[in-house]
Amino acid sequence: MFPESSTGYGYEACKATADWLLAQASVRPLVGIVCGSGLGGLADMLKDQKVVRYSDIPNFPQSTVHGHAGRLVFGTLKGKPCVCMQGRFHLYEGYPIQKIIMPIRVFKLMGVETVILTNAAGGLNQDYKVGDVMIIKDHLNMPGFSGNNPLCGPNDERFGTRFPCMSDAYSRRLCQLAQEAGTELGYSDFLREGVYCVLGGPSFETIAECRMLNRLGADAVGMSTVHEVIAARHCGMQVFALSLITNKAVMDYDSEEKANHEEVLQTGEQRSQQLVKLVSTLVTRITPNNDEC
Ligand code: HPA
Repeated sequence: MFPESSTGYGYEACKATADWLLAQASVRPLVGIVCGSGLGGLADMLKDQKVVRYSDIPNFPQSTVHGHAGRLVFGTLKGKPCVCMQGRFHLYEGYPIQKIIMPIRVFKLMGVETVILTNAAGGLNQDYKVGDVMIIKDHLNMPGFSGNNPLCGPNDERFGTRFPCMSDAYSRRLCQLAQEAGTELGYSDFLREGVYCVLGGPSFETIAECRMLNRLGADAVGMSTVHEVIAARHCGMQVFALSLITNKAVMDYDSEEKANHEEVLQTGEQRSQQLVKLVSTLVTRITPNNDEC
């Protein structure tokens, strides 16, 4: 493995990218939002937008997935300064895992204190329905079990400690605030809280894999988010994440259902307005929490 400093996404590269971005935008973001497949509409909520294409950002990876725009949007949400990633990076695109989490470290170096991540996921919990929104309370990091963790390699203490705690990865306070906001908005019928499992993808899971993951305690399965959460916690930002359940994972050999990317994008579009409302309500209620950072 190469030291990160020689591969273009170590501390110096992240700092140079953060400084370059801050020179483009007048907003000083406190909240960083990552939009999952079909959920890019979150960025459209921002006022006084400054949009920067990933292809124009020094050192930034490029998004290759259909449904992911590849833009960074700065702006304010009811006065709160935010930056939004429209399009993220995945292991299955072939990026080194340190490159996938580079934008999160750039968030940190731009002054972001809270990271909000959204994703599309398959529902493993048999009570879940397509269109449910799951607040992520914990995760299973399957690539991490085989040594594919974004913090592998030399640790740069300027970001964080060598062995960061993950039992408090998802801010309980933000989960609670989101539950309250969801109840007030009348979303209780489709709002859930559960455990998200990340796999490398890009192939969807077999029936046996879905059954195994469910028995291991996962409520939803996807191909993102966890790496970003680990990087965000490593450098001391508070994290909130949610999954839009875009399809039911196939758990039964008699089932005729098949997971496909079009279904994922369609469900994203249908539920996106409510998801945007939930996240924007949450953003207005966030306060820095020094206990967690
Ligand atoms: N599996 C993995 N990733 C996904 C799924 C799924 O069923 N749905 C959306 N992303």
